[in-house]
Amino acid sequence: MNPKVEEIKQQLDQFRVEAGEHLEAFRLQFLSKKSELQQLLGEIKNVTPELRKDFGQKVNDLKQYAQQLFDDYKEKIENSATIQTSGIDVTRPAVLYTTGALHPVSMVMNQVCEIFEMIGFSTVSGPDIEDDWHVFSALNFPQDHPARDMQDTFFVNVNPEFLLRTHTSSLQVRTMESCLPPIRVICPGRVYRNETITARSHCIFHQVEGLYIAKDVSFAEMKQVLLFFAKEMFGEDTKIRLRPSYFPFTEPSAEMDIECKICGGKGCNVCKHSGWVEILGCGMVDPNVLNDCGIDSKKYSGYAFGLGIERMAMLKYKINDIRLYFENDVRFLGQFG
Ligand code: PHE
Repeated sequence: MNPKVEEIKQQLDQFRVEAGEHLEAFRLQFLSKKSELQQLLGEIKNVTPELRKDFGQKVNDLKQYAQQLFDDYKEKIENSATIQTSGIDVTRPAVLYTTGALHPVSMVMNQVCEIFEMIGFSTVSGPDIEDDWHVFSALNFPQDHPARDMQDTFFVNVNPEFLLRTHTSSLQVRTMESCLPPIRVICPGRVYRNETITARSHCIFHQVEGLYIAKDVSFAEMKQVLLFFAKEMFGEDTKIRLRPSYFPFTEPSAEMDIECKICGGKGCNVCKHSGWVEILGCGMVDPNVLNDCGIDSKKYSGYAFGLGIERMAMLKYKINDIRLYFENDVRFLGQFG
């Protein structure tokens, strides 16, 4: 084999043609008048007659091979050009689709419900737009209670008999009216209060309220259930404390604090340097409420509690501004998925 033929064959195989300008370089190097291959063709006539046939054959084969490569490359490049001009840029990097995730409020709400479901509570739901009876009157709110005021409650303009529920205790009333004891329910849902929006309070937030009614229910039982909940939610080493409080529908009433998870009880901004943070309200259901909802308070007693989900999620994820939940900024929401 002629070493020159072999060399040009190698060059042909190594030459990469990926764009129009490469194609022209290929043509100049292998097919133009001045190319080495063309010169070899010119030399055929100078070769001695015995070798000429064989040499001529090889050089001509090489020339055909080069032409074939050139034609193939040309077709390929022209095809990709038509795809590009037809509006589809096949070289563009693909867009990655990211999947959605639950909102942190939904995540914490589900978690709270799951904990109470583990110990036998069933979940109930109901309307956001309520009437005065289910939100206030049945729950022993006096006529002049400030929560009934326009400043605290959103009323429906066309008919002020209706209002946006200020707590999901309305669902406890609905359950007591329609079910016979024993009753063991939790009521998750969105609630509305006419409050100024700040880092610590919002006019919309979420609650999970609970109600247990049976014979001889004690305050100690409630405390034990709430301690179980706090440990499941915030960890086995969580400490709780109950402080006396007041709600129109429970007697006695209390507020429950947990030891601040952010400073470990040492005192910080979140716990206002007390080492404790309030997480829920609770108490023994007032006999008036039981009677108003058709349950005999001489036979039955019960406890109720209510907690705010945003507050719970703030403690769990160390979030310091409640407004973040409602701004729908994906940079914030993406951290919980
Ligand atoms: N409904 C009360 C609130 O919204 C919470 C609560 C529920 C308190 C049940 C005691 C018993 O603040």
